[in-house]
Amino acid sequence: MDIKNMLIIGNWKMFPVSFKEARNIIINLNKKISKKGKSEVVVCPPYPYVLPIVTDLKKTRLNLGLQDIHPEPNGAHTGSVSLPMFDSAKVTHVILGHSERRALGENNLFISQKIKSVLKSGITPVLCVGEVLRDEDNTYLKFIETQIRESLSGVPKQAISKVVIAYEPVWAIGKDAKRAATSEEAREMRIFIRKVISDMSNSQVAMHTRVIYGASVDKNNISSFIEAGMQGLLVGRVSLDPVGFSEIINSCDVLK
Ligand code: PGA
Repeated sequence: MDIKNMLIIGNWKMFPVSFKEARNIIINLNKKISKKGKSEVVVCPPYPYVLPIVTDLKKTRLNLGLQDIHPEPNGAHTGSVSLPMFDSAKVTHVILGHSERRALGENNLFISQKIKSVLKSGITPVLCVGEVLRDEDNTYLKFIETQIRESLSGVPKQAISKVVIAYEPVWAIGKDAKRAATSEEAREMRIFIRKVISDMSNSQVAMHTRVIYGASVDKNNISSFIEAGMQGLLVGRVSLDPVGFSEIINSCDVLK
């Protein structure tokens, strides 16, 4: 893995409402970014658009990701979908443990099953962790540590570096959030996440584990996350806007 290049993931969530709009986002975004930039860009559309959008993505440098997946290949799991169902789509990344899914009752143990299943398929899991609130006693650090330890339970030590860890403070996600994390907050968390991973495995594995930031990312604040040493960005709302998302990608492409 080339950790020097930024990983930029667009999480479309449950938007847009038509496939036509989804295609337009890809087509317009592609026009606004260079064909061969050095950052790695992934878009994660809603399931119904995944297979039909492959043809459009093929003409671009954009990779395809999923917003979630069931850990098993098949079974009696109403409403769920599995990785083999997307086999022809060449998925590169799967977001797992997003706070919006955790809010529906998903727990760390289930997330760990998903991570192991995605790793087995040779695809990169993107594990989202983040505290709901910050408190003065710093219990949020313990909370993040538990999320990481439990979500990675059973993952072989050496394989941990194949997982991308996305720090997504829940209080900073979405249009109602007052602000994104500051550079200092992001830096502290990057160091802390690496320490937890080092304790779980070793410093080599921790050094090679990519840590990225997500929550209210836009073109005006990306430099503070880059300064904080984040190796990528998980972008929600702005990833649906070809202008805003291309500005983020273009800025990351020219980083030294
Ligand atoms: P946001 O979402 O960029 O709209 O805050 C980020 C996320 O939930 O991944």
